[in-house]
Parts: sequence; structure tokens; C-alpha cells
Amino acid sequence: MTAPAGAPVPSLVPNDLDAMWMPYTANRDFKAAPRLLAEAEGMTYRTPEGRAVLDGTAGLWCVNAGHGRRQIVDAITAQASRMDYAPSFQMGHPLMFEAASRIAAITPSGLDRIFFTNSGSESADTALKIALAYHRARGQGQRTVLIGRERGYHGVGFGGMSVGGIGANRRQFGSLLPKVDHLPHTHDLARNAFSCGLPAHGAELA
Ligand SMILES: Cc1ncc(COP(=O)(O)O)c(C=O)c1O
Repeated sequence: MTAPAGAPVPSLVPNDLDAMWMPYTANRDFKAAPRLLAEAEGMTYRTPEGRAVLDGTAGLWCVNAGHGRRQIVDAITAQASRMDYAPSFQMGHPLMFEAASRIAAITPSGLDRIFFTNSGSESADTALKIALAYHRARGQGQRTVLIGRERGYHGVGFGGMSVGGIGANRRQFGSLLPKVDHLPHTHDLARNAFSCGLPAHGAELA
């Protein structure tokens, strides 16, 4: 339900912000002056007070088809009514095989085995595990060095933080994964800020 523009939606205003521990957020500052988003439609969020806010980043880059898109809402509703969860350990659900086949059909040739995860962080850690297990399975178990890039972000799991190159995200957690190294980053505003398409510089750092 969408409130008329400008109309307050009191039920959407929490009366206590303490219990929720927010990631990547200065919690005390936020809770002193909360920025709450209560509803969304298309590319617009609406605050509990009814103020419209343009969603310039498609959520956290994960709502690219737009908020509240009718076909997606209907598909989620229909599936939740039919079956809300099925285990994927030793059992399967027909739609996960269909989804994998459809993804394999549009990915480049050779990329035709699909492993589903729940988040980017889980994907990053899973990719590192697959790389290690792959080399071990082909008799090259000595290939264990993982290479990331300075300034790279690969989520909040230990693997992703290890290959990630953001010092502030790693500082609290000690040595993380062993045998990780980093390539230099390619962020070069002086030379590449206004590039159209692939910048002329940076390949030498790859
Ligand atoms: C390259 C990359 N890896 C991992 C992640 C983490 O994804 P999530 O927040 O879904 O765990 C992100 C998120 O922005 C990302 O851009």
C-alpha cells in the first residue's frame, strides 16, 4: 500500500532503534538522526513522513528492475503460496534446476555449471573455495595463493575480507586467510576520471 504523497505513515516509525546493530554505519550518529526509508515504487523511495527520495543506486545495486515491479511481486507471491522453502541438501526443487539451465544458456561457453548462494559475500567465499578445491582435484594442491586487488570489496566473509583490499574492513580481525596477496589498484582519477569506455591506462597494473 502506498500512502498519498506527504501523508505520514506512523506505523512505519519504530519507537526504539537500539536493538538493531547496523552494518557499515556509525550507529550512534544514525540513531541520533535516523534516515528511514519506509516504502518504494519504481525508482523512488518514500520516507515515513511521505517525502520522496530518488533511488539512484537501485537499492545496493540489487533492485535493477525497479521497486515493486508487478511481475516480480506476483512471482514471489505465487511461489511463496505454492512452496516457501525446500532443502537443497540431498533433495531438490524443480525450479532450481530450471533456473540453473536458463542461466547456463546465457553465460559464455564453458561457464555452464551454476552454484546458487544467498549473497555476494557467500559467493566470494565460495569462489575461493572452488578455486582451491579445483586445483587440489587436478593434482595441483600446492596452488593455494589467493590474489586480490588493493581497494577491492568482496563482502564480509573471512575469504572476501582477506582478498578484499580495504584496510579498514580487515583491521579488527587479525591475519585472516593465509597466503593472500594483492595487486595494485587501478583507481587513477588524474588520468582516468573522464574516460569513455575502457580507460587507456590501468592495463599495466592488471
Ligand atoms: C564484488 C563484490 N563482492 C561481494 C559483495 C558483497 O555482497 P553482499 O553484500 O551481498 O554480501 C559485493 C557487494 O557490493 C561486491 O560488490
